[in-house]
Amino acid sequence: MISLSGKPVSFWIDSSSQTYFPALHENIVVDVAIVGGGIVGLTAALLLKRAGKSVAVIEAKEIAKGVSGHTTAKITALHQLIYAELIEQIGEEKARIYAESNQAAIEQIAKFVEEEQIDCDFSRQSAYTFVESPKALDKIEKEIVAASKLGLPATFVQKTSLPFAIAGAIKLDNQAQFHVRKYLLHLANLIAGEGSYIFENTRVETATEEDICKVISDHGTITAQDVIIATHLPILDQGLFFAKTYPKRSYLIGAVIDQAKAPEGMFIGAEDEYFSIRTTPYQEGILLIVGGGSHKTGSTSNTEEKYEKLEAYARSHFGVERIDYRWSTQDMVSFDKLPFIGKLTPLNEHIYVATGFSLWGMTKGTLSGMLLSDLILGIDNSWSQLYDSTRATPFITTQFVVQGLDVGKHWLGDRLKGLQGDTLSEISLGKGEIVRVKNKQLAIYRDSEKTHIVSAVCTHLGCIVNWNDAEKSWDCPCHGARYDCEGQVLHGPAVKNLEKLEIATFSS
Ligand code: FES
Repeated sequence: MISLSGKPVSFWIDSSSQTYFPALHENIVVDVAIVGGGIVGLTAALLLKRAGKSVAVIEAKEIAKGVSGHTTAKITALHQLIYAELIEQIGEEKARIYAESNQAAIEQIAKFVEEEQIDCDFSRQSAYTFVESPKALDKIEKEIVAASKLGLPATFVQKTSLPFAIAGAIKLDNQAQFHVRKYLLHLANLIAGEGSYIFENTRVETATEEDICKVISDHGTITAQDVIIATHLPILDQGLFFAKTYPKRSYLIGAVIDQAKAPEGMFIGAEDEYFSIRTTPYQEGILLIVGGGSHKTGSTSNTEEKYEKLEAYARSHFGVERIDYRWSTQDMVSFDKLPFIGKLTPLNEHIYVATGFSLWGMTKGTLSGMLLSDLILGIDNSWSQLYDSTRATPFITTQFVVQGLDVGKHWLGDRLKGLQGDTLSEISLGKGEIVRVKNKQLAIYRDSEKTHIVSAVCTHLGCIVNWNDAEKSWDCPCHGARYDCEGQVLHGPAVKNLEKLEIATFSS
C-alpha cells in the first residue's frame, strides 16, 4: 500500500467549525424547499429569505461538506480558456452574458461579505491562465482578444510571481478568493430562524409537483410552492441532466510554503497536463493549494498516483517541504460548456435545478442561486435564456457521442467484468476488486479488520462501480455516483446505498 502525504481531508473542512443543524422531524410547510446545502442552495436560500420567502434547506449529510467544501475556492470569471470557444460556438452576445454573469457572481459574494461582515479570508486577487511552452502561446493570445471583445479587462503578461518561467499568461484583475466553508457557514446561520430552516442528515428521496410541491425525505415531507434541486447532479432523473453532462474528478494538496516564496494571485495552466494554484492564510503562515489530475469518474483505480504527481509538482516548482492536506473533488462537465439553470423539465412550473458547472462552481454556483431566486420571485433576469436548463443541447458533439458510447460500454461490457469467485482470497489488503460469484457481481474491499462485500450494481441506473484506491470508494463510471466501502452513498445522483451482502449467501 502506498503511503500518501498529508491529512486526507479538505483544508476548508478541517479549518472550519462543525455544524449541528437538526434533522427534519415532522412534516412542515414553507414557501421554497431547497434540496442540497452547498453554494447554490445556500445562496438561493439567503436571497429568497431576504425577499420575504420562508425557506427550508435540506441536506443529506452536513452542509457545505460536499462539492462546495472540496473546491479550490477561486472566485473568477477567467475559466482557464473559454471565451474564444464560446464566441465561436454561441456568438458574441451570449458569450458576453456568460462573462457578465460570472463577474456579477463575484460581486454578489463580495456584497454578502461586506454587508454581513463575513470573516472568510475574502481577498481581491488577479487570475491568470498561463502556458510554459511558447508553442502554446497562440491559445493565450486568442483568449485575450476574445475576452477583451466581451469587455473583460484582460491583459497579456510574461512575468508573474510564480517561481518559474512561463511563456505568457492572460491576466484578469479584480477577481477574488476566499475560505469557502467559513463563507457558507455564515450564510447558513443567516438563513435558519424566523420561519426558515436548515436541516442536516435528512436524505431527500424524491420531489413531486402537482398543485403544490412535495419533497419527500427519510425524515418527513416538506410542502412548498417551489423547489430547488441543488444536489450537484439533480437527484431526480427527469430532465436527462446525467446525459447532458459527465462527471470529472480532480485532486488537491495543501502544502506549507515559505511566505517569501508564495505566489500572489490565482493561476491555472492551459497545456495538456495543467495545475491550478492559489494560496490561503494558514496557521501563522501560508498554505499553497495545488490542484490537477482531472479524469472522468470511475475511469481509473490508480488515483494515488494523482496525489503523487501533485506533490512532485509542488516540491519541484515551489520548493515546498511539507504537505499537510490532500483531498479530491468532483464536478459535472456540461457538453456545451454552459451550466443548466432553470426548470427541471419543460412540464415543471415549480421545480428548478442547477448543474453542469464544469469545474468553476464558485461563480456558477453563486449565479445559479441569483438566477433561481429571481425566477421564483418572478423577476426578469437577462441570463435565464442562455442558461435555460431545458434548452436544446447539441447532442451530436464528439464529447456527447464519446460519453454515450462510454456509458453504453460500462453498462453492458462491465457486466462481464470481475475476478472469478474462487479468487476471493487473492484480493490484497487495502484493495477493492469486482468479483463474479454465481452470476452476481460483488464489490469487495479488504482492510486489516474485515472483508467488506456489497453489490457492484450502482443503484442509480445499474452500471457497475469501479474501485478508487486513494479515496477507498466505489465510483460509478456512468454518471458519477460514489459509495464508501460499506456501500453508503457518498455522492449522488444515487440516493440508495449499495446492497450489503454476506459471502455466505453465495457459497454453495
Ligand atoms: Fe448513474 Fe451509476 S451514477 S448508473
